[in-house]
Amino acid sequence: MRNLKWWQKAVFYQIYPRSFADGNGDGIGDFKGIIEKLDYLKDLGVDALWLSPHFPSPNWDCGYDISDFEEVAPEYGNLEGFNVFLKGAHDRGMHIILDLVLNHTSDQHRWFLESKSSRDNPKSDWYVWVDAPPNNWQSCFDGPAWTFAPERGQYFYHYFMKQQPDLNWHNPQVHQAMWHAVRFWLDLGVDGFRLDAIGTIFEDPALTSHPVPLDLAGLRHLSDIARTPEERAQVEIYWKEMFKYQLGQPGIHELLKELRTVLDGYDGDRMLVGEDDDVTYLGNGGDELDMVFNFPLMRTDLLTPEWIIKNQQERLAALGAVSPDAWACNTLGNHDNSRIYTRYSLARLSGDGAHDGERARLALAVVLTLRGTPFLYNGEEIGMTDYLISDPSCLRDNMATWYYDHLMNDLKVDPAEAARRAASMSRDKNRTPMQWRNAPNAGFCPKDISPWLPVNPNYSSGVNVQEQEKDPVSLLSFYRSLMRIRKANPALVEGDYHPILTLASDCLLFRRSTADQSVLVTLNFSEKPASFNFSELNMQMTRALFSSTERNTTDLRHLTLVPFEICLLEVK
Ligand code: GLC
Repeated sequence: MRNLKWWQKAVFYQIYPRSFADGNGDGIGDFKGIIEKLDYLKDLGVDALWLSPHFPSPNWDCGYDISDFEEVAPEYGNLEGFNVFLKGAHDRGMHIILDLVLNHTSDQHRWFLESKSSRDNPKSDWYVWVDAPPNNWQSCFDGPAWTFAPERGQYFYHYFMKQQPDLNWHNPQVHQAMWHAVRFWLDLGVDGFRLDAIGTIFEDPALTSHPVPLDLAGLRHLSDIARTPEERAQVEIYWKEMFKYQLGQPGIHELLKELRTVLDGYDGDRMLVGEDDDVTYLGNGGDELDMVFNFPLMRTDLLTPEWIIKNQQERLAALGAVSPDAWACNTLGNHDNSRIYTRYSLARLSGDGAHDGERARLALAVVLTLRGTPFLYNGEEIGMTDYLISDPSCLRDNMATWYYDHLMNDLKVDPAEAARRAASMSRDKNRTPMQWRNAPNAGFCPKDISPWLPVNPNYSSGVNVQEQEKDPVSLLSFYRSLMRIRKANPALVEGDYHPILTLASDCLLFRRSTADQSVLVTLNFSEKPASFNFSELNMQMTRALFSSTERNTTDLRHLTLVPFEICLLEVK
């Protein structure tokens, strides 16, 4: 294989620590639990783990409101446990990246407590303070973006919840303090970071008001009731317009360059991947981030060949404009989005969930075979689905509880309808505990303990690790096999991408090629068989690499894919 960096060859797996594995039996995931599952992760075939925040936090935003950047949340363990985890992962050849939240801290962080205590304390300028709200900006989670702090008689700015005040990155002391935390983890040996919400770090210096005639609750409500294409298009415009002065503002590139130099002071290839889809954050291809997520790929209700082809066309062109070496990064699921198995099910659209399993396999085949580093989300490998929490008092995602309260109190929406909407917009549905076994609480925690979020009862109908491990045709076994195929075939990791556009709209067909190997990827997204004559394309098969079905012929002159087949052939 060409001289690729580890993160270019790796398959990443996101661990949401609160829900992954509970080692001490208190209903909350922890490092002891994760350590016990390292062999599972290794066997699955993942090469790197991204850990969602594991820092102390009052959990207003499920860990993304951090009150100490250089510690471990007590419910997850301690630094000693973290080090055991890190070493355990490294010993098994897996890399570890952490979540780095630069934009904001918790309102309980000592920096903020000091900053808000008076107008003239040493940290008075560490956050964004004003005498009175200068505009109509909204927080994307909970109403007005400016909140009053009686202690200093001023308002502070927060793009997310009021418990997540934005740091003032115009202050050099903030840089020093945050880079101190970055070095703290790099010194321990972590291999990089996933950068949270980088687009939100700076605001429009002119503080221009947005032009939308609604507040956040009003806009969410409008989004929920929009039905016609025109109404939906209007809502989409409003969302963009509402936050345009609070996102993607000048200053981010310089900041990322500074962070890059901190990482470059370390040995190994410490890496940065940004929670943003703007490829310009790759800088010149070496001086800012290593990767940004291809979020546009997942922003669809239906994953179709047409959608994927268009996405790749645009994405690879955009990356190419940055640098010939700019590296792609594909994902379809994470802790902020409806789970793949639910999102790409046809059940929502046509009431037919009969082929959900096949569609989940196709989704994985897409992220593992397209050009770029794949990121998987814990639980997708066993087909975990969204689990709607119908009782609003059990919601843990405060973005949803805030919306529920507004629907009830201000918009006077019927309580059952308000609960339904809150459950479906809440991210709790895709963060429920990992389903390890067909046992009470899915084996996540003891049966007499209440897990922090309810467990999806479908663990008892096969959606659990233990049963799928024993079943050669389970989704989990499929994940393992396809991951091995990817690893064993350099063209799938580093090859160029050549779409084959002319043949059939329900099939995604492309070649991944290096100088030494070429793989033909054929994915049938439909419930009908599809036949091809590839000899017209001057292709001959050298070896069959994988098929999701039993196939006895791989003749490229008349290759028939069965419904939903995933077939990978080495060709020349
Ligand atoms: C990112 C995280 C999300 C969090 C937000 C605020 O988008 O992925 O979970 O709520 O940042 O930190």
